[in-house]
Amino acid sequence: MSLDLVHAGKVRELYDAGDDMLVMVASDRISAFDVILDEPIPEKGRVLTAMTIHWLDLLADVAPSHLISADPADLPPGAAELGGEAGLAGIAGRAMLVRRAEMLPLECIVRGYLAGSGWAEYAAAGTLHGMTLPRGLEQAQRLPEPLFTPSTKATEGHDENISYDDAVDLVGKETAEKARDICVEAYRRAAAAAETHGIIVADTKFELGVIDGRIALCDEVLTPDSSRFWPADEWRPGTNPPSFDKQPVRDWLSATDWDKKPPPPALPAEVVAATSERYVTAYERISGRSLADWYGATR
Ligand SMILES: Nc1ncnc2c1ncn2[C@@H]1O[C@H](COP(=O)(O)OP(=O)(O)O)[C@@H](O)[C@H]1O
Ligand SMILES: [Mg+2]
Repeated sequence: MSLDLVHAGKVRELYDAGDDMLVMVASDRISAFDVILDEPIPEKGRVLTAMTIHWLDLLADVAPSHLISADPADLPPGAAELGGEAGLAGIAGRAMLVRRAEMLPLECIVRGYLAGSGWAEYAAAGTLHGMTLPRGLEQAQRLPEPLFTPSTKATEGHDENISYDDAVDLVGKETAEKARDICVEAYRRAAAAAETHGIIVADTKFELGVIDGRIALCDEVLTPDSSRFWPADEWRPGTNPPSFDKQPVRDWLSATDWDKKPPPPALPAEVVAATSERYVTAYERISGRSLADWYGATR
């Protein structure tokens, strides 16, 4: 029996596993400047999945999560077909069995540092998602406190940064407060843990959903795709620190004359290999484990 595809996203595919369960498979696809590149990055899907499990373990007492199991042996029989000729081995380490949630229509971003669209807004208007911040902050500067800075979850086009009050209008006061408290606490714990490994979590995006009436951590959690990880020793306020993982891709693309619109140029093999290496290193530094010990290892 094959599983029905319920969602094909930029990076993940979701399949119906019956009984309000889903199989979520992380691919090796990579996007840069919001365009999906043609070359897969070996090991990226395993890194995203292993990293999510690592953090969900650490955050288990902050909130419940959608995770049932990432053990390939726990996947429903139809899942083997998703791995192509390799069968179950083809998705081992990239697939998770999860509970289906009613997703909140919010991207729950927490920022500990001023970067990306947050920095752009502050530089232009002195505000962050509508909140007034002290004057004179620099790009990449650490904020006095981590801040919950939600955005909409656009089905088309770009997500839009919104204020906390806008989030209250979208999900109600009680849910917004719970979401904020869960996400800020999860960020604090993760940032403190990563810092001991020389990595700054500048910001991250959680996606929450409701399962059995409780707000749960869903989707991917604190991965390189959902977070800005900076090597602490390369962080300088006033500069734009390179993100830990996509730096080789971005550097290479920026040196071409590509206009950032599809189709993207083909990545050379050495850039693909360097990027794969960075993802694996990020996982191994942050978790203190070897990716070779995660499901689906082939080398
Ligand atoms: N437990 C869950 N139940 C239902 N939907 C989920 C759950 N966890 C994550 N999702 C949704 O699954 C999708 C994951 O696929 P992804 O490739 O990240 O898509 P996108 O391109 O929309 O970010 C997201 O739309 C996310 O909101
Ligand atoms: Mg996503």
